[in-house]
Amino acid sequence: DKITWNIADAELGTYTHFMEKEIFEQPAALENTMRGRFSEDGSTAQFGGLNISAVDLRQVDRIHFLACGSAWHSCLVTEHLIEHFARVPVEVDYASEFRYRNMPLGNNTLFFTVSQSGETIDTLAALREAKRKGYKVLAVSNVVGSTIAREADGGVYQHVGPEIGVASTKAFTSQILLGAMLGLYLGRMRDMSFSDGVEIVKALKGAPDLVRRTLEQAPHIKAIAQRYAHFHDFLFLGRLSLFPVALEGALKLKEISYIHAEGYPAAEMKHGPIALISEKCPSVFFVSSGEMFHKVISSMQEIKARKGPIIAIATEACELPEGLADEVIRIPECHEAVLPVVATVPVQLLSYYIADALKRDVDKPRNLAKSVTVE
Ligand code: G6P
Repeated sequence: DKITWNIADAELGTYTHFMEKEIFEQPAALENTMRGRFSEDGSTAQFGGLNISAVDLRQVDRIHFLACGSAWHSCLVTEHLIEHFARVPVEVDYASEFRYRNMPLGNNTLFFTVSQSGETIDTLAALREAKRKGYKVLAVSNVVGSTIAREADGGVYQHVGPEIGVASTKAFTSQILLGAMLGLYLGRMRDMSFSDGVEIVKALKGAPDLVRRTLEQAPHIKAIAQRYAHFHDFLFLGRLSLFPVALEGALKLKEISYIHAEGYPAAEMKHGPIALISEKCPSVFFVSSGEMFHKVISSMQEIKARKGPIIAIATEACELPEGLADEVIRIPECHEAVLPVVATVPVQLLSYYIADALKRDVDKPRNLAKSVTVE
């Protein structure tokens, strides 16, 4: 008899696809990303492999992130978190664009490349370009000993285990968790107080559990996905740190279901994308309590007035006006340090279940590669 299974099938366990497995693995993956990376006094993060002294890091007055794809989205979240927690200006570039932009750069700029695989050629070439210009370049990567990890001056490993599904899931959430940890670390070197640091550490440690609670929504999200799988266009809308999560949600849907989707900051929708709105184009809104709540609600009302279906991903305390959203997916209230991580989970599940309903090849979508090693 021929052996009809292979190692990859065996590793799937009870899951149908690697993407599904990797989504559900996230609580453990995030634990692994954080393990051993908080100070004993519980007020800051610590990293063993940055290879840069506290004195030098304190001098850094700008951080430049370079990445592609989902990793680039993770950098946009990180930009928000580092600027918010550490008050250090952050710039984010597509690695492929940075190589040819020839932009003016400061003296005390630190570079970070972010790459799950550590092999993406555009990111590697951008790293080499930054080094050629005489800058220190650190790397965030999931693959130990990858080319980018080896060529960087130092960095942080994600430790989430192999990611097989072409669409990034646990690697993305782990990158934004690391972004919050870097923001905390740089912030505590600057003006962030001990007690603010303690609060953020506590929040970060709670992330795996919040993700676990969000994953319990899977059957509800699957039912929504089955009702919405026939649409051809989607908008994803969010504000502040949830804007890049909206970009990531749109990318996930495009990648694995081949449905056209775009992400925008919720208020920017009125400057163009609103022309797309009709009963044929659903909008996925991220709604969190806090300063932006009423602004996001009014954007939702503009969509509703044009008969656009609305799927709201809302934190528990948000009281949504009756009848405004057609579907509501609840996520736990959480600290701003972990909100983008938690808010990512429903859009991963939504795109996964839509693609599965359409019988797409979820783990190996057409035209895409897990790691792109050509320019
Ligand atoms: C490819 C993958 C994306 C990924 C991007 C960057 O395009 O399909 O999912 O985000 O590469 O990959 P990296 O390994 O550098 O994070």
